[in-house]
Amino acid sequence: MITQKTVLTIEQLNEKVTDMIKQIGEKSPHATNKDGHYDDLTVDWWTSGFYPGLLWLMHDVTGEVSYQKEAEGWSRKIEAAFDAYPIVLHHDVGFQFLLTAVMDYEQTGNEDGLRIGLKAANYLAGRFNPAGNFIKAWNGDEKKGWAIIDCMMNISLLYWASNVTNDPSYAQIANHHADTTLKYGVREDGSTSHILSFDPYEGTFIEAIGGQGEASDSAWSRGNAWALYGFANAFRHTGNETYLAAAKRIAHYFIAALPKDSIPLWDFRCTDRENAPKDSSAAAIAASGLLELEEYVPENEKPIYGGAAKSILEGLTNNALAPTHSEAILTHATGNFPVGRDVDVSLIYGDYYYVEAIAKLNGWKRRIF
Ligand code: GLY
Repeated sequence: MITQKTVLTIEQLNEKVTDMIKQIGEKSPHATNKDGHYDDLTVDWWTSGFYPGLLWLMHDVTGEVSYQKEAEGWSRKIEAAFDAYPIVLHHDVGFQFLLTAVMDYEQTGNEDGLRIGLKAANYLAGRFNPAGNFIKAWNGDEKKGWAIIDCMMNISLLYWASNVTNDPSYAQIANHHADTTLKYGVREDGSTSHILSFDPYEGTFIEAIGGQGEASDSAWSRGNAWALYGFANAFRHTGNETYLAAAKRIAHYFIAALPKDSIPLWDFRCTDRENAPKDSSAAAIAASGLLELEEYVPENEKPIYGGAAKSILEGLTNNALAPTHSEAILTHATGNFPVGRDVDVSLIYGDYYYVEAIAKLNGWKRRIF
């Protein structure tokens, strides 16, 4: 008899993450190899906040002080990347510092977390291009007019900064960026583009670029998940119904495009579907985003988003749990298919959002994004 698993419990996650601490040690993990061992990247890499973020999350959910002890050195470690020249940090300071410095400040009141969080917010705000009303995603001369869909998650750092400083200018930048992303990056059918290219001097829109998706008109599944979650957050931060409508439109596309096991292919519109790897990280991000969306819709709509989130989490638990010996929680994730990097492996952000979504199902109320 095949037994269907429901999602992992907090107790099971507690056991698993305790093992991860022993296995991962001082590493800054991003992706596993085929044996389930996480790599160890330099802390300027965009994913450096997710492992400490997972520890902070487990601290918040379980009250276990050992998680805090493991997590608290990370904001300073990542902060060191601000000193590098040429510049190595980019728009992903949102992911990196929301999950470290801001988590620390919000949970413990540590003023150092506030200092580092605001430093990161000022850096992110400084990437704003007022001619085009977008936040520049990456560094490099050829990319100075590029905005990307993932940044919808990073702008939560700006909303947070406005809250703690009582200065609306950070949120104003976030709103301009969200409006631009909505205008050029979210299609009528709710699918999204990855990269948006603008003339950095005039601010005019040039074109969409496929990026980590297959093509400029395809639908990179993780990009769709970032957008779904990001617009739901933007609504929570602003009360702007346009963002709520955008999040719903993206969610409808995402849900309708899911296969039976609820784990999307790496790109919903990829051409070679027979051989296409899946991306469990997109599913985990979308599940947490859908639970966010569920909070803000009327009672009669809640089952649409909450139900989809639960199906996705069950699909992940039944079909994408990493084997027990692995240092990761989920497997079958795909990082960057077009360049052949991290295909069908475990990714630390998949692990983080799977746990975050389960924490929400168990009543976790703090919001970081
Ligand atoms: N933010 C980059 C990615 O989702 O791969």
